[in-house]
Amino acid sequence: MNFDLKDKTALVTGGSRGIGLEIARSLLNEGAKVILCARKKEGLDAAAITLGNPEKLTIIPAHIGKPDQVDALFAAIEEDHGHIDILINNVGMNLITPGIADLDPGLWQKIIDTNLSGTFLVSRKAALMMRAKGCGKIVSLSSIAGRKATPGMGIYGIAKAGIEMMTKVLAAELALFNVQVNALAPAMVRTEFSKPFWSNKELLDHVNSTIPMARIAEIDDVVKPVLFLASDGSSYITGQTLVVDGGATII
Ligand SMILES: NC(=O)c1ccc[n+]([C@@H]2O[C@H](COP(=O)([O-])OP(=O)(O)OC[C@H]3O[C@@H](n4cnc5c(N)ncnc54)[C@H](OP(=O)(O)O)[C@@H]3O)[C@@H](O)[C@H]2O)c1
Repeated sequence: MNFDLKDKTALVTGGSRGIGLEIARSLLNEGAKVILCARKKEGLDAAAITLGNPEKLTIIPAHIGKPDQVDALFAAIEEDHGHIDILINNVGMNLITPGIADLDPGLWQKIIDTNLSGTFLVSRKAALMMRAKGCGKIVSLSSIAGRKATPGMGIYGIAKAGIEMMTKVLAAELALFNVQVNALAPAMVRTEFSKPFWSNKELLDHVNSTIPMARIAEIDDVVKPVLFLASDGSSYITGQTLVVDGGATII
């Protein structure tokens, strides 16, 4: 598929492994310059080796939940690239949580800080750049856990539901500046993040039995829709969340 992203500069948060790494690879293949951030420098160095393309790739360690690190990330981007055309809000983390009544407030804060506040901090900076330029694309990774109360993933789901509403709010605010803001809500995707579920055959069989397509997603199933939402092909789509779940939420 050809999305033709040459002359575009994209920031992928959490791009050192999993879905983010493959989004970065596809953006590079489509001709974009790519900036990757993640917390650990070693992970970014390893990603840079597998991606190759050093003239088009920049890696910058940053924790997206920490305002000073997000400021430093965007200061570096402004200095090296001037602006970004595409933001992929890919960072997400989950820690298995008890029910709300039994939840420690510190655990709540940690999950909300990374998933929701981090997405806000990065989107805010990107929105300023894109509004000034008069064009841009923001694509955020949500999850079907943001639409369906999922045991053990309740706070993650609340954060993802917040990302979907942030997508609508930001889309409305930036519509007249030619910036489209959309999200993607996958069900389970085969990455390290979800390995505790898919590596257990009994659990995997159960999950597959709840999906009309009878299989969990591979990373590529998610990357192509992300590229579509980051490309001109989606120029009249904004404020939407595309559900990528093999039909899991239709039954
Ligand atoms: N895999 C699934 O089944 C699934 C399903 C639905 C939705 N999603 C969503 O898809 C996205 C990607 O998931 P994935 O499975 O590819 O995750 P993953 O394999 O765990 O990768 C997460 C990436 O984010 C980085 N990261 C984590 N916390 C960060 C922070 N605070 N600041 C900066 N970078 C951070 C990690 O690097 P460092 O550790 O070095 O920071 C890593 O590069 C997430 O938003 C997730 O919620 C995944």
